[in-house]
Amino acid sequence: MEKLFAPFEKGNLKLKNHLVMAPMTRSRAINNIPNKLMATYYAQRSGAGLIVTEGTSPSPEGLGYPRIPGIYSEAQVEGWKKVTEAVHQNGSKIFLQLMHTGRIAHVANIPGGMQPVGPSNLNAAGEIFTDSLGMQQHSIPLALSAEGIKRVFTDFVNASVNAIRAGFDGVELHGANGYLLEQFLNPNVNNRTDQYGGNITNRSRLILEIAEAIATAVGSEKVGIRFSPFSKLSDQAPYDAEEVHQTYTYLSSELNKMNIAYIHLSTNPDIPEKTYKSIRASFLNTIIFCNGLTRETAEQKLQDRSADLVAFGRGFLANPDFVSRMEKNVVLNAVDFPTLYAPGEQGYTDYPLYTSK
Ligand SMILES: Cc1cc2nc3c(=O)[nH]c(=O)nc-3n(C[C@H](O)[C@H](O)[C@H](O)COP(=O)(O)O)c2cc1C
Repeated sequence: MEKLFAPFEKGNLKLKNHLVMAPMTRSRAINNIPNKLMATYYAQRSGAGLIVTEGTSPSPEGLGYPRIPGIYSEAQVEGWKKVTEAVHQNGSKIFLQLMHTGRIAHVANIPGGMQPVGPSNLNAAGEIFTDSLGMQQHSIPLALSAEGIKRVFTDFVNASVNAIRAGFDGVELHGANGYLLEQFLNPNVNNRTDQYGGNITNRSRLILEIAEAIATAVGSEKVGIRFSPFSKLSDQAPYDAEEVHQTYTYLSSELNKMNIAYIHLSTNPDIPEKTYKSIRASFLNTIIFCNGLTRETAEQKLQDRSADLVAFGRGFLANPDFVSRMEKNVVLNAVDFPTLYAPGEQGYTDYPLYTSK
């Protein structure tokens, strides 16, 4: 029997189907505050059993990109309430992705002239868009001091409490794609000599401390985490494959002890089978698989039990009725690339629904 469209239940997570909308930055939050237009966008996509929001900053300093939302002010909490209410009305669950961009940032994007931070002061190669100056080289980050790390930790915990107040079913820590938490994991970005740098245990310390504190503050069933082992996104220089394998095996078994809701794997590039199997064996709760899936390959992952849930990004982005289009096997809208991060409705809430002619 097909699983994709059937209800899902594992641990405390109950969903109307096995389909997850992957987190996608869309840069529509003017002044970093979620708004009605965003509520419309997410409500349109609530065919998904679970929606993971776009990356959302726990603090002003983590707002590396233009117009991305935050979850540290009352105005942001109020704005997000519109989103969670609209999604819940349609029977879908929604987790907020907590993304601190770390060194993937430019000072012009961060309010108040603050400087981006990182595990160390090594800046990322490449450019980033700013509204005021166009494309710019990434700013050189300030290496976080011991006090700075404590502040980041507290910001994540407070942000999670805010997310639950805003009506979210949980939070997903963004430990993928080269942002702050993954910057700590990668020895080519993290050259610290304190207990947050050096060996695998030390480099994993911040992300595990944050996960544990959030689980204590809001409940372990309300915490998920996203990883992208072997990804080179955002200038993450590759490191020894065996060390990567051991890092994610260690993280998975530590997160298993905390009994958090899920690990969400973004497979860009593909994760070697040995590492994928090790994560699956070490973490007993839900595994979400994302990247490059089709209806057929997604169903296969569920059938062979390599994943409990499957996530789609671009499919949901360009098709508000993505779930019913998949069910009916009808053609999908293509992504309009120029409007991915542009403000306004165009290329956001105006993708057409399928109509049979
Ligand atoms: C426009 C866009 C924005 C994205 N923003 C995020 C993000 O904020 N956080 C994140 O973890 N991944 C982000 N991603 C990656 C997606 O979650 C997903 O992993 C990727 O689109 C691959 O899945 P797909 O092949 O189904 O599209 C983004 C992808 C796209 C296309």
